[in-house]
Amino acid sequence: MTPAETTTGSNTPPSCVNPSTLAQAGACVGKRVGVSLLRFPASDPRYLQTFNREFDSFTPENDTKWDTAQPDRGNWNHQPGEELLAMVSKPVSIKGHTLVWHNQLPDYVNGINDPGQLRQMMRDHIREMITHYQGRMFAWDVVNEVVNEDGSRRNSVFQRVLGDGYVAEAFQMARDVGADIELYYNDFNIETDSEKGQAAYDLVSDLASRGLVDGVGFQLHIESNLYPGYFSPNAFRNWIRMYDALGLTVNISEMDVRIPSTSLQDLEIQRDIYYDFVRVCVEEPACDAITIWGITDNFSWQSNDDPLLYRENYQAKPAYLGVMDALTDPL
Ligand code: G3I
Repeated sequence: MTPAETTTGSNTPPSCVNPSTLAQAGACVGKRVGVSLLRFPASDPRYLQTFNREFDSFTPENDTKWDTAQPDRGNWNHQPGEELLAMVSKPVSIKGHTLVWHNQLPDYVNGINDPGQLRQMMRDHIREMITHYQGRMFAWDVVNEVVNEDGSRRNSVFQRVLGDGYVAEAFQMARDVGADIELYYNDFNIETDSEKGQAAYDLVSDLASRGLVDGVGFQLHIESNLYPGYFSPNAFRNWIRMYDALGLTVNISEMDVRIPSTSLQDLEIQRDIYYDFVRVCVEEPACDAITIWGITDNFSWQSNDDPLLYRENYQAKPAYLGVMDALTDPL
């Protein structure tokens, strides 16, 4: 029996017989496994050591958002984004985040009342960001978090000044740049059996009917006390299949799981939640990637709730094993 063959006689590569990293395990089932990245934690060498060992993809957590990249009209600041990309020397997949969003938006944008002026500003921003990173980012979150929990449209300068059509306009502007990249809609709580889930689906279906969108990012910012009721793996699977039927790719784009304490019981619940949702992505062909929203708990946007796979000291938590088991358990 050759080393590559297992007792089943399959031609499983050695790294898939007993994968030692999340990226290896993900590659064996055709899924990218990544994280969001920040610049300041890299002062600790363990940050990039952990990234380079375990992950094959990343999303800039903040450095390619509008408030950083264009702090003033026409004043482009790509240094943070370039510094972030330069931190990673190995080949990776990078998804740009995010072009049109109500948050982290400079005041000069929020203060606009003229539709023509806002359209031109959107077009300029979208064109500059896609063009600047062309060839280095395979996809962009074009529009982020449009719908409210009740399915209504979230208030933003884009919604107020341009109306419902701003979403399709933004995606068309991204298409018009002509880059060979995937265009994503990204949102949270749309994995739930809810008005928000339905509203996001209706929005994306319209975009898909016009050929404007390629994928959907399910952020999966999960609270353990709302599992398995509000946060349901079955609801997540159903939505994946609905988007798959539209011909779209989906991914887990910003996963973290907040827990009330670091008791053994809560850490095990966290492990189970990571397992259950990552397992759905592994089992569904339309889901191509899992991105965790950070590496160690202390640098999380929800640092008080211990939501990630690693403790502050870079020790892997039971949640890490939840992801690894979800990737490696037999299909
Ligand atoms: O850059 C300023 C810095 O100059 C200032 O000194 C410092 C203290 O005020 O704030 C810095 O800005 C912070 C920014 O992150 C960059 O570090 C903001 O205060 C802080 O609110 C912002 O938080 C980010 C948050 O988005 C903003 O809404 C989080 O790091 C980031 O993880 C989070 O990520 C979002 C996704 O982009 C979209 N989905 C939801 C997710 C969680 O909110």
